[in-house]
This record gives sequence, structure tokens and C-alpha cells, in this order.
Amino acid sequence: MKGIARGNEEVQLARNKIGKPYVWGGGDCNGPTKEGQPKAGFDCSGLNEHVTQYNDYRKWGGTSYSYNDAQLGDMFYYSHNSGIGHGAALALLEHRAHVTIISSSEQRVKSVVEDVGNPNLHGKVGNVREEESFIELLRSLAPIDHLGTPLCSTASTLKDSCSIIRGPIAEADFDECKHLFGVKFWGAAICGKAAAKYDIISSGGSLTLTSGTGAMNPGKTASIGGALNAGLFTMTQGLALELAEKRIRVNCVVPGIVSTELWDKMGTIGKGDEQAQKLDAMGKKLPVGFCATGEHIAEAYLYAVRADYATGSLITIDGGGVLK
Ligand SMILES: NC(=O)c1ccc[n+]([C@@H]2O[C@H](COP(=O)([O-])OP(=O)(O)OC[C@H]3O[C@@H](n4cnc5c(N)ncnc54)[C@H](OP(=O)(O)O)[C@@H]3O)[C@@H](O)[C@H]2O)c1
Repeated sequence: MKGIARGNEEVQLARNKIGKPYVWGGGDCNGPTKEGQPKAGFDCSGLNEHVTQYNDYRKWGGTSYSYNDAQLGDMFYYSHNSGIGHGAALALLEHRAHVTIISSSEQRVKSVVEDVGNPNLHGKVGNVREEESFIELLRSLAPIDHLGTPLCSTASTLKDSCSIIRGPIAEADFDECKHLFGVKFWGAAICGKAAAKYDIISSGGSLTLTSGTGAMNPGKTASIGGALNAGLFTMTQGLALELAEKRIRVNCVVPGIVSTELWDKMGTIGKGDEQAQKLDAMGKKLPVGFCATGEHIAEAYLYAVRADYATGSLITIDGGGVLK
């Protein structure tokens, strides 16, 4: 984050807070919140806001700079592994949960676990396209309290993944469409089947699927991508009834536009600065006035995990995008 660098002053401000306790949700521009109460302190974003003196620094979006250009007082955020699942994992870790992330790439799992460096975070390699081995992996992790599936196909094996999510149906390549369904739709179904067939998720736990607001508002060019997401709505409601027998709640997070690696993979709005500016512009048109990151969407997963009374719920978190 450039343009706010006051170098030594920021570092000194941060040093002055050494010894303040970690308090979830604590801290803002003015200092540790809940001052005067037994626990006044900061969490990571609260401390960042205080040090930078910028209210909700997360809304700044991201301009990419080389690590070699770092100057005293700059704040650096890793641009990789920025997906919705990553945001949810970090939020759960902040709540002292033990989290296992699963990715189809060994290198990706390794780098996330190393970067985060939290002893409660573990990584496993698994490909949700391979039903048998994926279910075996889930069984090896049992008992799990909560299972989440923020899955999306990577574009690396596709010619043009964007045309699946958005594009005229006359141009659709159905093999590619099936590839996307293979991860997002069938991946969710495999998790539902595994939870129903085996004792993987503990009684009282939850399964959280992920859809997208394209289900409600596909526009003219997302009949297939929208239908994929809408299918997850129905799957959520069906599974909620089926898994109720095992006292497992099933909910679905429905994000609107989110700044994640998915946009790099789709390639529709460029990369780096160009992409950040376009996402920023799209965010400004939303009622909330900014584009979410995985960290914002994580709140919906926390709700799905914690809300004992919620099952079969479609948890829309889209900055008010569907209202327009
Ligand atoms: N970003 C948005 O604007 C937006 C908006 C609405 C809905 N959504 C939905 O939210 C979900 C998460 O999106 P995101 O933006 O976080 O996307 P992302 O950054 O591309 O993350 C997708 C995740 O799926 C995993 N994955 C893909 N193929 C896999 C496979 N075969 N086996 C196991 N894991 C696999 C990826 O891990 P590996 O590639 O390492 O395996 C990655 O962790 C998706 O369902 C997406 O459609 C996103």
C-alpha cells in the first residue's frame, strides 16, 4: 500500500502498541477499541488501520509493487491465495479453529501453510474431480465439525473459462462448461454424498456450499453459469433436509463480485493495476461503494458455521449488487 507511507512514524506507532492484547474486532484509526474495558486491544486489521491512520484500509484495493520497491512504512499484501476459501480459513483461524485447507496443487497447499504460519492450519492435496480418492481424504480427516466448499474450476486447462460463466450460449463450448460443472457442482455433490454416507462431519456440525449471485441475476449472457449457481441453491435445500437426520446443517454462501485470483484466471478485466482499477470501479457502483475481498466474504462462512438455527439458508453477501 503506497501513498500513505510515513515511514518511521508508522513503525513507531506500531512499536508503541507492543504489549497490547490481541482482541478480535479490536482497534481502529483512533487506537485500541474497547478502551477502559478489561480487554482493550487490536486485531490485525485494527492495528493496520491505526498505524496507517486510514479507516478501513482494506477498501483500498491493491496496486501491485515489486517487493524490491518496498520502502519503510509500506504495507505489503500477498496477492496469491487470495480466494474466498483463503479468507474463510483466516477468519476461522482467528477464532482459534483448527483448519485444514484442501487444494489440487501440492505447491499451493505448501505455500499457503508456510505463508500463514499458524500451527492450527494444515494442508492436504486433493482433487475433487476424483470422487473416490477425495472422499477417502475427507474420511481420513474425520471427525470434522464444519466442511466448506468454495470451489471453482481453474482456467489453466480451459481455452476460455469466462465464456462459461458469461458469454452468449451460441458460442458455448459444452465440454468446457462440463469441466466447470465437474468442480463446482459435482464437487459440492461429492461433499454432500460423503457427509451422508460416512461419519465425516460431527453431529451438530455443518456443510457450507458456495454459489454466486449469477443464480438470481444472470443477465443476458450467463444462462449456463447462472444455472450452475442456481443448481447449488436447490442442492443446498435438498441436502439440508437429507443431512438433518445426522444433525448436520447445510447452507450456501452466495457472493457477489469479489476481488480474488478468479479474475486472473478469467482474464476478462486484465491483471494487476488494470484489474484492480476495474474492480474498484465496479465496487463503487455497488450500494456499499466498494468491492469485497475474501476477508469480507469470510463473515458469511463464520455465520454458516456458528448459526445453530440456520440450515437450508442462502446467505447472500454481495454489497447490495442484486438490488440494482
Ligand atoms: N470471485 C468472485 O467474484 C465470485 C463471485 C461469485 C461467486 N464466486 C464463487 O466463489 C467460489 C470461490 O471463488 P474464488 O473467487 O475464491 O475463486 P478462486 O480464487 O479461483 O478459488 C477456487 C478454489 O477452488 C479450488 N479448486 C479448483 N479446482 C479444484 C479441484 N479440482 N480440486 C480441489 N480444489 C479445487 C482452487 O484450489 P486449486 O486450484 O489450488 O486446486 C481454489 O482454492 C467459486 O465457486 C466462485 O464461483 C466468486
